[in-house]
Amino acid sequence: TITPVILCGGSGTRLWPLSRKSYPKQFAPLIGATSLFQASVKRLSGARYAAPVVVTGDSFRFTVVQQLDEISVDPGAVLIEPTGKDTGPAILAAALHIAETNPKGLMLVAPSDHVIPDDDAFANAIASAVPAAEAGDLVTFGIKPDRPETGYGYLELEHRPGNTQEPRPLKSFVEKPNATDAATMMAEGCYLWNAGIFLFSVQTILDTYRANAPDMYAAVNTAVNEAKPDLGFLRLAPEPWAAAPSISIDYAVMEKASNLSVVPYGGRWSDLGDWAAVWRETETKGLSLSGAATAIDCENTLLRSEVEGQAIVAIGLDDIVAVAMPDAVLVSHKSRTQDVKSAVRILKKNH
Ligand code: GDD
Ligand code: MG
Repeated sequence: TITPVILCGGSGTRLWPLSRKSYPKQFAPLIGATSLFQASVKRLSGARYAAPVVVTGDSFRFTVVQQLDEISVDPGAVLIEPTGKDTGPAILAAALHIAETNPKGLMLVAPSDHVIPDDDAFANAIASAVPAAEAGDLVTFGIKPDRPETGYGYLELEHRPGNTQEPRPLKSFVEKPNATDAATMMAEGCYLWNAGIFLFSVQTILDTYRANAPDMYAAVNTAVNEAKPDLGFLRLAPEPWAAAPSISIDYAVMEKASNLSVVPYGGRWSDLGDWAAVWRETETKGLSLSGAATAIDCENTLLRSEVEGQAIVAIGLDDIVAVAMPDAVLVSHKSRTQDVKSAVRILKKNH
């Protein structure tokens, strides 16, 4: 079986005011009735999967348990990080924890905040990745880029990807390039976006961390060995954890490792980074309405009322995003939704 490892940190400030520091976007029902976190867990359940290991922070622990309960999933473990240290230490802690009972097993690392609507395509991609992972590869999943995005990792292939999902060796891994490099890679045609999903054996990833990030390995290993059970959670030991560097798996391991392969993924995938992405995933006939929302003569407009009993009405708008929460309302041009991040920064300074 494969043990799913669900990463649940981060705050997703570009989806303010729905996504908050205390309630990040993965817990919100952004698309449909379940949260992105719940959808991620469900995607990784069924016969081929063991119970999921969730890695999260102290402030989200009850939300995690409640949301798992709502979809009737018993977690294998909920690991609590004393502080967020990006994905490097989080994934390593999960690997060390799984190794205690299943050192020969595979683990599938997945973010909790992505939209992957096509279950069959996803299951096929995982199935085609399994033999490579069993043979000792770190398998990544590649998405065909449609813009020179600088917020993603890029996977370099030997040849253009074509249309098959067979795993192929990775020439190099470039995490979050600058705009010039992103444009060059996009034009070249041999690069895919890193989907942020990884399949590998517990053994392989532990060996890779030991070789490429020995200090992190030592600190996190102690934090897992000295972890304390608490109300069904497993609290990683704060003191050794504090010694671990704060770095993503992409920089700490993936950019350095040589045993990488990639499975091209042709299904739909979005990391739902901003409101424009939510609009793309939810619009029908040029509108995306949620809650008590009424649009009159509007085009390309997203309207959401997240407040029970509070109506939102728009007239004659084009290319607008409006989201109403009890304590804040966002109104933005749809082409400017990336700037919500700066808006949150300004609000923090002023209030
Ligand atoms: N538990 C835990 N602790 N989870 C974390 C932490 C942490 O400290 N930091 C991030 N996460 C979770 C996030 O909640 C998210 O689900 C996932 O790990 C990925 O982290 P992001 O912070 O969203 O990474 P990113 O989007 O900048 O980059 C990664 O994903 C891209 C695709 O969306 C990289 O893997 C890129 O290469 C990739 O293209
Ligand atoms: Mg992300």
